[in-house]
This record gives sequence, C-alpha cells and structure tokens, in this order.
Amino acid sequence: MKEYVLLTGGMGFIGSHTAVCLLKAGVNVVIADDLSNSSASVLDGVEAITGVRPPFVRCDCADRTAVDRVFDTYPVSAVIHFAGYKAVGESVEKPLAYYRNNLNCLLTVLDAMRDHGVNTLVFSSSATVYGEGTGRPFTESSPTGGCTNPYGQTKLMAEQILKDLCRADARFTAVLLRYFNPVGADESGLIGETPRGVPNNLMPYVMQVADGRLPHLRVYGNDYPTPDGTGVRDYIHISDLASGHLAALTWASSHPGCHAFNLGTGTGTSVLELVHTFERVNGVAVPRVVEGRRSGDTAVCLADPSLANRVLGWRAERTLEDMCRDAWRWEKKQNEGTAHE
Ligand code: UFG
Repeated sequence: MKEYVLLTGGMGFIGSHTAVCLLKAGVNVVIADDLSNSSASVLDGVEAITGVRPPFVRCDCADRTAVDRVFDTYPVSAVIHFAGYKAVGESVEKPLAYYRNNLNCLLTVLDAMRDHGVNTLVFSSSATVYGEGTGRPFTESSPTGGCTNPYGQTKLMAEQILKDLCRADARFTAVLLRYFNPVGADESGLIGETPRGVPNNLMPYVMQVADGRLPHLRVYGNDYPTPDGTGVRDYIHISDLASGHLAALTWASSHPGCHAFNLGTGTGTSVLELVHTFERVNGVAVPRVVEGRRSGDTAVCLADPSLANRVLGWRAERTLEDMCRDAWRWEKKQNEGTAHE
C-alpha cells in the first residue's frame, strides 16, 4: 500500500522546501495547509521542480473533523508538523491567537495520529527555546526557557507536550528540530519565502531594499559585543534545513522517544557581513542606516550542530554566498511574475 508523509503547514517556506526534498528522495507526501500564510500556487512550483504534484488538502489543522478526513483518505506513516503562526512581534500583540492556534493544531494532529495508529512525528521547533544564552553555541543540552514572546513559548510548550507524550507511550517517536535562521530559496528560484507586508526578518528585508521596494535597511544596533557590533546569527540555507527533515524522518522510524536536534551550520554571520555578501554576490546596493537595538534581540545566537551531524548523518553544505544568490534569484523571479508564490 502506498504510504504518505503528512506535512501540516506544508505550503509555507520551510514546508514547501521540505516537500521538494522528500519528493526528490521518492517519499510520497500529502500536504495539509489552511493557506492562512501561503498560496495554493506553491504547488505549481513544487511540481515544476520535482515533476510530482503532491496531494493537497486545504484544512485548518485545529479542526479535528478535517484532520481525521486527511488520515482517513491517505495512509499516513509519519507526520512533519509545520502548521503554526510564526511572527514574533505579532505574537506579543495577539498572545491568545498564538497559544490557541499553535497548541490546538499540535494537540489535534496528535489526537488524530493516536486514533489512526501513527507514531512518528517530526516537529518544527526553533532556537528560540534556548532563550538568551551566553553567546556560546547552543547544544541540545543547553538550558531552555526564558523566551520573551508568546511565539517562542508555544514552541517550548509544544516540546514539553511531546516529551510527556513520549514518556507515556513507549511506541511514540518525536524528533524536535530546533531551527536557527533559515534563509535562501530553492536554487531553481521557483519557490521561496513570501512574507506578508513589511518583512521582520533580515534577509527578506534586505531583498526588498535591494529591489527598491523599501528605501533602506535599518540595522538594529551596532554596539553589541560582536566583531563589528551588529547581531550575529547562524543562517542556514533552506534546502539544507529541508534535508535535515529527511534525515530526521529516516532516523526516527527506529528510535522511539523524544529527541532534539539543532539544525544550524555552527558559523556565525553578522548583519553587516550578510549585507556585504549579498551586495557582492548579487552586484546590488543595499543602503542602510544604523538604529537602536530591537527589543528582544540578543547579540549572538549560534548552533552547535554536531549532534545532528553525528547521529542523523546530516550536515549543512551550502554557503552564505549560496544563500544570498538563491534568495535573490527567487526575489527577481517574483518580480518578473515567473515564480510560484
Ligand atoms: N535585523 C536588522 N534589521 C532588520 C531585521 C533584522 O538589523 O530589519 C537584525 C536583527 O537585529 C538580528 C538579525 O538581523 O541581529 C537577524 O534578525 P531576524 O529577524 O532575521 O532573525 P532573529 O534571529 O531575530 O529571529 C529568528 C527567527 C525567529 C526565532 C528567532 C530565535 O525569525 O522565528 O530567530 O531563534 F524565534
């Protein structure tokens, strides 16, 4: 019988690149997404890249009846759960919406999995669970907690729910993938990130400055204790992040229990380094002004990815140059109207 991996939220930035990676590896995928922060045309991009158009069900993952229908229609062997709201600033404005949506989606999917005998879940977590840290690379045993916003709290709570579930049910596998800063786009330029409104994250903002849609980048602080004073992050190419899901899924089937892995490169890049690299590889100008620090930001956030390297046999391979080049290719195709938003 043909089995499927269910990608909840599979039309979004990380989900769609993971769909491409899985389909290229010959894994059958079914996508469930309410399109609240994505568009159905992403499927055209996925199909153009892979030659496969995966089944797509438009559904709210907090709607038990709709989620049951997906499990009843497709024999699901495992779930990768991406569905959730993700804007840090918005989560401070609308905490109840974030807690309700992100936790209800997870709980509903878990209930449906239990009732359909599905025991493997890969969860879309975040480096935000580590809170502020000390500036040294985070390992999976670094303390968690201290998140300053409801978005981060929902990730932390979801991890706790999955730990408790694995403790109660010895057959269940939960792999918590803690993402650092995903950027870039599929090298085809046919799928990528499509932020709604003015972007909050650095790379999408840089691109909109480079193509003239925004006047200049605001560099949030140049007085951090970093080599050039600007914030340092661990940027990871979205296609490397996607392949981390395939590695986790392959490994998960024989490893019951709850396991966390960092998905990052281990290399830090400052805001100015990213901007300089973007300008150099793409031959464009990114005007900028230095402003005060953004509230909630930390100086440095870096992964120690050695556990995922060793245990999952996974490693991020693409460079910062690749990230900047591929992100810009996607942006240009969108402006030409040839991309699939
Ligand atoms: N930055 C600017 N100007 C901008 C946007 C960002 O200078 O217009 C700087 C920030 O101050 C920071 C760096 O660029 O130093 C990266 O900022 P992002 O907003 O791109 O990413 P963050 O590291 O703040 O946030 C990311 C994810 C969150 C996650 C968080 C913690 O977007 O989902 O990491 O892991 F919660």
